[in-house]
Amino acid sequence: MNWDHKDLLGTRELSREEILFILDTADSFRDISRRDIKKVPTLRGKTVITLFYEASTRTRISFELAAKRLSADAVNITASTSSYVKGETLIDTGKNLQSMQPDVIIIRHSMPGAPHMLAKNLQSSIVNAGDGAHEHPTQALLDLFTMREKKGAIDGLKVAIIGDIAHSRVARSNIFALDKFDTEVTVCGPPTMIPPHIEDLGVNVEYDMQKAIADKDVIMMLRIQKERGGVTYIPSIREYSALYCLKEEHLARANKDVIIMHPGPMNRGTEISDAVADGPYSVILDQVENGVAVRMAILYLLLGGES
Ligand code: CP
Repeated sequence: MNWDHKDLLGTRELSREEILFILDTADSFRDISRRDIKKVPTLRGKTVITLFYEASTRTRISFELAAKRLSADAVNITASTSSYVKGETLIDTGKNLQSMQPDVIIIRHSMPGAPHMLAKNLQSSIVNAGDGAHEHPTQALLDLFTMREKKGAIDGLKVAIIGDIAHSRVARSNIFALDKFDTEVTVCGPPTMIPPHIEDLGVNVEYDMQKAIADKDVIMMLRIQKERGGVTYIPSIREYSALYCLKEEHLARANKDVIIMHPGPMNRGTEISDAVADGPYSVILDQVENGVAVRMAILYLLLGGES
């Protein structure tokens, strides 16, 4: 299979075959990060820019490591230290960066559609590292990679996604990606955090967390998106935690081989307890490790790599 997308903007636009192609390519890169010398010359001479208008630990660092481990030159810009603070528009910033001939620009922005606007106007490949509450495709791809690694296959999985669904780009990208497979997805949270008509995306809705996790292979916990006003949708964090914080006692009635996922950052004690986050079912740090391999695969494919 050849990769023929200029950009990676969302999982909605990817076919099942393209998702599997990315995951298989990531498999071939996974070992590099565990070597003494964590570098191969694959993308020597290529330039990757990360342009982040929102905070990030995992996504930005793993893209930088992915680029460096493939020998590309990686340059990082955060909004707070860029000419954005002097009033420069996103498109002007994009065009100025383009003039320096980067091969890939990875952007995170609070505005849904910001990566799509750059993709239309710039020749560089654009990767969406999160646009508002819209999509976070590389997170979903590393989540599917981790599900496949831990459970053997994506087809057949029953997945519960629990938390602030309304404001979660991670939930949306996972729903779009899992819909390409033979999966059963249930979203769960307070009614105010479940978007109306979300069933139209092919998911079940459950408001009782214990029922939502009952027979699931994968439980994905999400934090409340405070930066998008998530806390205004609930009476209090205390009440939310009483109903939607995953604790050890809930897992007593879950599948014995369930895996617990979280995209991070976690708010311990709000949506997940210490015992669950650090417990035997948790694959949260595996997700982070796999994020480097998946992002290496994405850079490699966008820059002309083949199977
Ligand atoms: N999962 C995720 O996007 O984490 P960061 O915000 O730290 O990048």
